[in-house]
Amino acid sequence: MKLIERSKLAASAFAFVSLASVSASFIESTPAVAKVPQQPAILTGSAVAVADKYAADAAEQVFKEGGNAVDAAVAIAFTLAVTYPEAGNIGGGGFMTLYVNGKPYFIDYRERAPLAATRNMYLDDQGNVIAGKSLYGYDAVGVPGTVAGMWEAQRRFGKLKWKQVLAPAIHYARDGFEVSDQLAQRRDAASKEFAGKTNFDQYFGGMNEGVNFKQPQLASVLTRIANDGAKDFYNGKTADLIAASMRGHGLITKQDLQQYKAVWRQPIEANWNGYRIITAPPPSSGGIGLVQLLKMKADLAPYFKDVSLNSAQYVHLIAEIEKRVFADRAQYLGDPDFYKVPIAQLTDDAYIAKRAAEVNENTPSDTKSVQPGLGTLMPEKAETTHFSVVDKWGNAVSNTYTINGYFGSGVVADGTGIVLNDEMDDFSAKPGVPNMFGVVGSDANAIEPKKRPLSSMTPTILTKDGKVSLVIGTPGGSRIFTSIFQVVNNIYDFHMPLKDAVAAMRFHHQLLPPNTIFWEPYQPVDGELAKAIEAKGYVLKGQNFSGDIQAIKIDGDTPLPAADPRGRGVTRVVQ
Ligand code: GLY
Repeated sequence: MKLIERSKLAASAFAFVSLASVSASFIESTPAVAKVPQQPAILTGSAVAVADKYAADAAEQVFKEGGNAVDAAVAIAFTLAVTYPEAGNIGGGGFMTLYVNGKPYFIDYRERAPLAATRNMYLDDQGNVIAGKSLYGYDAVGVPGTVAGMWEAQRRFGKLKWKQVLAPAIHYARDGFEVSDQLAQRRDAASKEFAGKTNFDQYFGGMNEGVNFKQPQLASVLTRIANDGAKDFYNGKTADLIAASMRGHGLITKQDLQQYKAVWRQPIEANWNGYRIITAPPPSSGGIGLVQLLKMKADLAPYFKDVSLNSAQYVHLIAEIEKRVFADRAQYLGDPDFYKVPIAQLTDDAYIAKRAAEVNENTPSDTKSVQPGLGTLMPEKAETTHFSVVDKWGNAVSNTYTINGYFGSGVVADGTGIVLNDEMDDFSAKPGVPNMFGVVGSDANAIEPKKRPLSSMTPTILTKDGKVSLVIGTPGGSRIFTSIFQVVNNIYDFHMPLKDAVAAMRFHHQLLPPNTIFWEPYQPVDGELAKAIEAKGYVLKGQNFSGDIQAIKIDGDTPLPAADPRGRGVTRVVQ
């Protein structure tokens, strides 16, 4: 089957909107709070791995104007909101892990539940989940955080003026970009999914392969954000338009937007294999999951001795580890502002070693015996998008952001062109109710006003001796951290070049369904490997999405980026 799905993207000019076309008032009135002092260049160039060519062009432009990794990241994020509308966004949220001037940072700009949200808002009178209510339409939308997150990051660490980093996105929204075959296919699928439920086709009905697609309303929004900063989105004309669009349909009000805050948090940090892992803390489950996976595998080194990559035995051992990580995830993880997540205990070496010791070397452990936390594992949307950035000064940004499913809730806020997320689906719609194993699910991720839903997004940076070594992330819902885990193993345990490590087969197990291995679409399910895995007691299940890794490895002083051949991502190195 086809592994490589390449788009026919056309070259685009760097004819970005001129700075003269946006008013200078914003720059004068809102200077950045703390700009990064200039460091000597320590790498041969700056580099990006991003989901599409336009975002790479935007980053190149920013680097050529003297911008750093944070400027480039913010330009990429706004550009993907235009040219990668299936997952790039300003109507959603995400996480950014940064390494700036030798220090780690993390900003959480995940969506929040609206003030009027209630624990049982997706249940009917009988207490059953109403199918689709948290996935489609106005009820599915969480309060978006992307604009606040980008604003915070650029003000704290960017070198360029805010409107400089918005300029590429404004250009593509106003003047258009060429629609790729992959984007057109995803649009077709979304049109069918949202038919009769949302206003999606009104905005995206004409987004056909090869056309130059313009989004004038989005261009106006972005120009206002360039002029007025994040306050336009949260307390200005864009906030008014979003609130008006929601009125009578959904829960989000202008008050929700006014009260939204992105939060600087302590990233998860851990030592592993001579590297320092810097990754996403709660409300992501991904960072804790990644650390547990890597350390448990290291604890089980004797079991892995002489086991070849992606052999049946390798798949079995990794599945055993994943089983235990997902058991914890279901029970203990949620928004740390609402629930005390036991981060230290879950990432403690002795605890992880104890969990590793429970792994059965030969056969799959009985699923019910893997405790704690056989909680309700909600099926998660696999979409989302990630980009990785390093600059020649040695700073790095690893950013994953999302509107959840492709094109989110399918709702476009009237008069804005902003695709709104369906992130409310990442909450547990029905906590406290026994699942198919008779075990009560966790309250940690129950819906509460202003709470952030649990995520799997895992933007990650590895450093060695204080210098960036790897920047990595991917979309994929609950497959995010198992995908990153496998690529990191491929690089560091199997010494594969980055491109091969990213392209290699991936698989996934997540405790439930019991002993089920999710399988790459292009792998034969009747081949020798498949038969050997089944003989161990596993069920193989095809999945149509195994992530879209965007990664940069630093070799010596040279950044080597790689984009996953499964997507339409591109890499760029700028001298
Ligand atoms: N919505 C996907 C995630 O947050 O992991």
